[in-house]
Amino acid sequence: MSGAEFDRHAEAYDGGLDNPVKRMMGDSADQFIGVKARWLLRREAALRDGTLSLLDYGCGAGDLMRVLADLGARARFTGCDVSEGMLAEVAKRWPSRHGAAPALAAQQGARTPFADGQFDIATISAVLHHVPVAERPAVYSELARVLKPGGRLYVFEHNPRNPLVRYVIARTPIDENAILLDAREVRSGLRQSASYVLDTDYLMFMPPGIAFLRGVDRALAWLPLGAQYVVAGRKSG
Ligand SMILES: C[S@@+](CC[C@H](N)C(=O)[O-])C[C@H]1O[C@@H](n2cnc3c(N)ncnc32)[C@H](O)[C@@H]1O
Repeated sequence: MSGAEFDRHAEAYDGGLDNPVKRMMGDSADQFIGVKARWLLRREAALRDGTLSLLDYGCGAGDLMRVLADLGARARFTGCDVSEGMLAEVAKRWPSRHGAAPALAAQQGARTPFADGQFDIATISAVLHHVPVAERPAVYSELARVLKPGGRLYVFEHNPRNPLVRYVIARTPIDENAILLDAREVRSGLRQSASYVLDTDYLMFMPPGIAFLRGVDRALAWLPLGAQYVVAGRKSG
């Protein structure tokens, strides 16, 4: 899908909640994003102290950065995307109580305007399945380029091994051109782009809106059947 195709979805973008099965699992897109944001805050406690720079690559309407801020993150946030329409949504959705909205940049394909080694942390959430397979190596290379030595990359994706995920994606308009990828493909792509220490967690076994089940999710993080996964990489220094 091109940036222009995403522009069409930008104003109404709500993380695919137009799908009735997804709505049964949680009643707001923020509940789904909250699972990823809480995982990140457990992994990167320093996100709360205002010292880290974080790039959200393919940030869409900026919802991951916003939910991180809602949960107490105080990073220097930057977002980039191929869709100008999505980027235009970021400031509109950013609450003034969180201070200045994230810095933003438009991408030229995979390429961003950032300096080599600019960011402590990069996230890429629900983006790669929209990137044609042949173009994914360029995305991995760009992420490696903009990360500091010792920087951390977090790739969040839908898990194609979960049958409910495949059912929902096949019926969600924004995903009409999606090609899902599993964690093994992500790890292999990252290893070819740079030297990383990698690990993988599986997320979202339980409906994200039910807070008392979060412990179950955490206990099952090793099991490759969660609705989402995160491949975490620390770039060698
Ligand atoms: C499903 S949305 C996810 C947005 C956001 N990351 C989130 O989690 O809410 C997919 C986003 O990927 C962007 N996208 C598609 N192809 C891309 C590419 N090659 N590079 C960067 N972003 C891309 C789209 O413009 C869109 O904003």
